[in-house]
Parts: sequence; C-alpha cells; structure tokens
Amino acid sequence: MPTFDIDWVRAQFPALWQEVSGQPAVFFDAPGGTQVPQRVIDAMRDYLATSNSNTHGAFITSRRSDEILVAAHSAVADLLGCDADEVVFGPNMTTLTFALSRAIGRELKSGDELIVTHLDHNANIAPWTAIEELGAIVRYVDIDCGDCTLNMEDLKRQLISRTRVVAVGYAANAVGTINDVAEIVRRAHRVGALAFVDAVHYAPHGPIDVRALDCDFLVCSSYKFFGPHCGALYGKREHLERLRPYKVRPASEKIPDRWETGTQNHEGQAGVAAAIDYLAELGRRCGSPPTSSRREQLLAAYGAIRDYERGLSVRLIEGLVKIPGLTFYGIREPERFDQRTPTVAIRMEGHTPRELAEYLGVRGIFTWDGNYYAINLTERLGVESRGGMLRIGLAHYNTADEVDRLLAALKAIGRKG
Ligand SMILES: Cc1ncc(COP(=O)(O)O)c(C=O)c1O
Repeated sequence: MPTFDIDWVRAQFPALWQEVSGQPAVFFDAPGGTQVPQRVIDAMRDYLATSNSNTHGAFITSRRSDEILVAAHSAVADLLGCDADEVVFGPNMTTLTFALSRAIGRELKSGDELIVTHLDHNANIAPWTAIEELGAIVRYVDIDCGDCTLNMEDLKRQLISRTRVVAVGYAANAVGTINDVAEIVRRAHRVGALAFVDAVHYAPHGPIDVRALDCDFLVCSSYKFFGPHCGALYGKREHLERLRPYKVRPASEKIPDRWETGTQNHEGQAGVAAAIDYLAELGRRCGSPPTSSRREQLLAAYGAIRDYERGLSVRLIEGLVKIPGLTFYGIREPERFDQRTPTVAIRMEGHTPRELAEYLGVRGIFTWDGNYYAINLTERLGVESRGGMLRIGLAHYNTADEVDRLLAALKAIGRKG
C-alpha cells in the first residue's frame, strides 16, 4: 500500500503556502471551512471564462453549463453513494435544510414530534424548531457531558409513534464526536420517522454511504470538503418526488430540479466536481487502481485520510491533555478515536478562548473560538457565557510539525497564564 504522500497533498493547496510574520501559516480552522486545491480554482475560473451562461439554452455556452451541472451531480452522487438525480444543490446546508423542513412541515399535523440533539450545529436545530409554529413539538436529545457523546438512552425515551423526523449530526462540528448514525436511523425508522443527517462536519473526514445508512436525507457543504461555497442535499427519490417544495411554476417538476430553487451557483458546482476529482486522485495515489470506479477511489482516499488524521489526533490530544490548566472536551482515549474526527475543543485557565485564538493567530496558527453555532452544546457544557471553547480542527493537509508548533505555543502561554 503506498504511503500517504503529504508533500503531494500540500502541493495541491496554494493557500497552505502562505506565511504570517515570516512563519508558515497553520490552518487548524478546517471545521469552519477547508482550503481548496488549485484544480478547484481552475475549474471555477474556466467555467466563468468559457461556459458562463444560464441553462437549457440553444447555444454552446449554455450546453456546456448543462454538462457541467450534470457532471457535478454525478460527482456528488459518487461521494455519497446515491443516484445523480437524488442530489440537490443549494447555496449551503442551512438554506437547504430550511427549504426541506418547510416542505416536510406541509405534511405535519398538530402534535407531531421532531427530534434534534444538543450536540448539533444550530443549522440542524433552527430549521426544525421553525416548524413548531405549525403545531409540531421539538424534543431534544441530551448529551453525556463527560465525553460529549449523545445519550442514546435519552434518544430511545424520546422516540414515540408521533415522532416524524429525527435530525442528527453525523459528527459534531464543535468537539468532533461521530454519532452512531446507522443505529439512529434504524431507531427512527422503527417508529416510522424520517431520518435527516447533517454530514457537514463529517464529510472531509470519512466515507459516506447513504444507502448503507438508509437515511432519508443527508446534507453536506462543499466548502468543508475542499470545494467552494455550495451545499448539497441527498434525498431518497421517493421523498424528493412526493414532498412538495416551495417552487416557481415554470421550474421543472422533475427531481432534483423541483428542489433547486432559482439559478444555481454554476461556477461553484464546477468547483465541487473538481474537489471530488481531487479526492479521487488522492484515492488512486493511495492504492486504488486507475481502472476502479470513482466511488472506489473516493473510498480509498477516505481510508487513507482517516488513518493519517488518526495519527495527528493521537499526537494532538496526547499533547494537549498533558498541558497544566487545560480542560479538554470530548473523546480523549485513542482506542475510541474511530468515534471522533480530528476536531477538538479546549479551554485554558487564565485565558478566554478569544485570547487564545488571538495569541495563536498572530503566530500564524488559525483556530476558532466561541460556539461555532453549536450553541446548545456550549450552553449545556456551561461555557457559553465564558467565551465558549477554543476549537482546533485538523484536516488531512495538516502535519505533525504543525501540531507540535501548536502544542509548544499553548505550553508557553500556559506558563505565562
Ligand atoms: C455540522 C455543521 N452543520 C451545519 C453547518 C452549516 O453549514 P452551512 O454553512 O453550509 O449552512 C455547519 C457550518 O459550520 C456545520 O459545521
């Protein structure tokens, strides 16, 4: 098996070559948005230079646009393991989820229940609480604060025959916990509820197979997996055909068109396809034969990404928990690292998360502070009124040296604190 070629990976991403005050920049802000390979920039520029047009016209640039959008749907279908017409593009996850929740709301009756979780980004909560005004009741699944995992017993208690939707994150953007999504989908289906999965934080770190999960909907955002600012929603064909989206009359009733409200971000979709091609090439470089399908290549890429990121997580977390005065939130035992992404959240005695982020930022290390919209979680952990947490979020383009630089900087400020 070829080794993970980190030099090749880093050479793909021009943003990583930047410096801050004479030091290479360290991008530990991946959960907020990843950097993009050069081919994504090229694909977006080429689209605007040679194909820029609206769709379904009787001339060459319009035909090229049609082809590019078809290719983008099929690239996302390979990423998620579904058919191309089950892929709905939109501006971002939040907007797609509001559109879907409104459409589902049209079918709900007063007293129907929806389940969300305290672990999730608010974009997987607010669209569901928004339809409480139609008479639905939203229930919240609690977490175990010790390791920031979902309390599955609580989920079991909340699931009843009136539950219509279970909305859950694949992985938590604040603390990196990966949920047992397949089990949650099974439990939702057992009471006849729809299962909606927010895979925004998970998508850059692990393979997604919507058929194996059997989820009804799954949503992700390409700017979190090395592409531009576009969202994509998978929906089971039967639901995309049956539910009634809010749409304009002349727009096609075919799927996915009936869900793709207004003119889409064409250059963005060109970029999404290029990001997925980058991952497929990584898969070939990690041992997937050139003759294998793009889906197989993507699975190989994710296998390699997971192994590589796990090494970084071990180094990062083992280093962090040894720093005096540091509080670590989430799963910390290496033998449980298949239940987490390389995204970690900490606090340090004597410093607010903002002070830490600023201290690291001037040293060229980019982290995030606050609640990152996972506000139920920061409230539940009792840190919301104290500046939240410092989030360190790695991607497969980061290195062990970068982890060591961060640890050294945190140790130094710990001593000053
Ligand atoms: C887990 C998770 N869900 C949803 C969102 C919202 O995604 P978008 O910005 O595409 O609306 C984010 C963004 O940070 C996220 O991390």
